[in-house]
Amino acid sequence: MVTLIRKTAELVSARAPETSPVGFVPTMGNLHAGHISLLERALREFDTVYFSIFVNPKQFGPNEDFTRYPRTLENDLALIEASGAKFQGKRIIVYSPESSEVYPEGQGQTVEVLGVTTDLEGALRPGHFAGVATVVHRLFELVRPTVAYFGLKDYQQYLVIRQMVADLCLPVKIIGMPIVREPSGLALSSRNQYLSAEERQQGLVLSQTLRKIVDLIRTKRDLREAKALSAEALRDPRWNYLEIRDAETLSTDTRRSKNLTVLGVFQLGTTRLLDNMQVELP
Ligand code: PAJ
Repeated sequence: MVTLIRKTAELVSARAPETSPVGFVPTMGNLHAGHISLLERALREFDTVYFSIFVNPKQFGPNEDFTRYPRTLENDLALIEASGAKFQGKRIIVYSPESSEVYPEGQGQTVEVLGVTTDLEGALRPGHFAGVATVVHRLFELVRPTVAYFGLKDYQQYLVIRQMVADLCLPVKIIGMPIVREPSGLALSSRNQYLSAEERQQGLVLSQTLRKIVDLIRTKRDLREAKALSAEALRDPRWNYLEIRDAETLSTDTRRSKNLTVLGVFQLGTTRLLDNMQVELP
């Protein structure tokens, strides 16, 4: 059963009296199979799942795509209903508020996570992670989830949320879910629809390059050739970055790392395609 809630007061009266464990999936809507994989994992684990759809203005920069970000609530609800139908007897509560419901006047507090927010997306999108941490913290306060599910697609975001939970001792477990891709390798993203057919083709270089770097690290057992390949790729100015980092800390010093993450952003026009792949060091 799917229930749609638009008002924070309604969410609070639905959730506050109960103490039962619930799963939670925060999103900005325009759902695709990546979001649905999070929902279905939550539905496997909980009888009640809260699912938020909110295009959070605080995490968009002044020149970013906040106003044109696709808002497709009707279609999103149909996808949620279809997933719900596979899980008889489970409850899905969709919270899709207006901005004034999430940020009433006077709610000026910001949650700022230090450390993992400083470079990569943090450097290129000032204020972005403060916006993400602030809204996720607020949603956690309202929903009080037992477990919250995030995609590894936004790997740095996942680390930021984990850090926030650790720093503030929040009683929620964070699960990172694998990236859902098209057969071509392109990671699913709501922003893919900004791409022309030609750009979509050009965007394949992102996952293909990450794959090559990961394969080189695996087979060569050191980073020399992988770094050379990355330097060669970076001659194409459409890369915002392409980096091999420690998967836990995002440190560039990987000498003692057990797991690495290869992160890249490839830009086509104004659309930034974001992707990453993990590799265990042999
Ligand atoms: P959004 O971009 O809608 O993504 C919602 C969740 O879906 C995130 O945890 C994201 O990592 C995950 N996701 C997106 N594409 C995915 C894919 N291809 N495979 C697996 N998971 C995928 O991320 C946000 O919204 C916002 O920043 C939010 C956390 C909701 C705060 O506003």
